[in-house]
Amino acid sequence: MEFKKITFIGGGNMAKSLINGLIRAKFPSNNITVCTPHPEKVAALKEEFKINGTTDNAQGCMDAEVIILAIKPQVAATALAPISAAISDFSNKIIISVMAGITIERITKLLPGAKKVVRVMPNTPCLIGYGLSGAFASGLNQEEKDFTNNLLSSCGHAIWLDSEDKINDITALSGSAPAYFFLFLECMSEKAKEYGFSEDNARFILQNVALGSAMMVLENQDKTLKQLREAVTSKGGTTAKALDVFNNHDLTNIVSEALDACKNRAVEMAKQF
Ligand SMILES: NC(=O)c1ccc[n+]([C@@H]2O[C@H](COP(=O)([O-])OP(=O)(O)OC[C@H]3O[C@@H](n4cnc5c(N)ncnc54)[C@H](OP(=O)(O)O)[C@@H]3O)[C@@H](O)[C@H]2O)c1
Repeated sequence: MEFKKITFIGGGNMAKSLINGLIRAKFPSNNITVCTPHPEKVAALKEEFKINGTTDNAQGCMDAEVIILAIKPQVAATALAPISAAISDFSNKIIISVMAGITIERITKLLPGAKKVVRVMPNTPCLIGYGLSGAFASGLNQEEKDFTNNLLSSCGHAIWLDSEDKINDITALSGSAPAYFFLFLECMSEKAKEYGFSEDNARFILQNVALGSAMMVLENQDKTLKQLREAVTSKGGTTAKALDVFNNHDLTNIVSEALDACKNRAVEMAKQF
């Protein structure tokens, strides 16, 4: 990965997962700066990652070639105002935003003159290097896109979207999706406890079932998901009985409605900011 100067606005979960990924990928820590309002958090991040840090967003962005917006959408205007007041030309800087619901149009209003903007929808597994980030780039050349791809891949995988509104689709399919799987595991855990398993044993069983199932999907690329399901389902057997219950409650429709609700909320949020 080319060693550009990267500044993070915000030093929370998402910033930390990306910084962690960059350091793991042997990106030089002295090329990274983090800006976050509380001095004690700046000090902690500097100590943990041996990076540069400041509470002054404008100062932190002066030399940056890449600015990563890892703040909550509600604070975007306040956080970016001092940067746009201090820097007159953003046209050569790559702006990468992980903020949900803030469009590229809005970003270019907050940072006037910005021409190279990437919107990213990451998910929480980025925190442990198994994330999936959906990204849409506007105005980047191939080298800059490759750089951004490597950066995002340092905490998992990245896929590129061909239009900005696909960010809302990927929010439903990936950004929010870990919670769907956790909910399913929670439901199964409740049942395991009802069967008399301790909380620890229930967790041990379910985390291994989840991991094993994910590995089956990963390692059997020549099989469809349907084939994998059918391989566990003998006609008239135990699995078939369980699947009948899901189907009788129209699980396909429940999933479809849930994803649409998520996507619609993402569209709504984009109008809000
Ligand atoms: N976490 C996820 O799963 C996920 C998934 C997809 C997208 N996202 C998006 O990622 C963004 C960041 O999420 P997160 O989970 O990393 O949030 P977070 O942990 O709350 O981090 C936000 C950071 O921004 C800092 N901050 C607040 N005001 C600031 C200002 N004026 N200038 C500079 N920094 C400021 C906060 O500092 P203090 O804590 O000191 O206030 C904190 O370090 C959000 O927009 C979210 O929509 C998150």
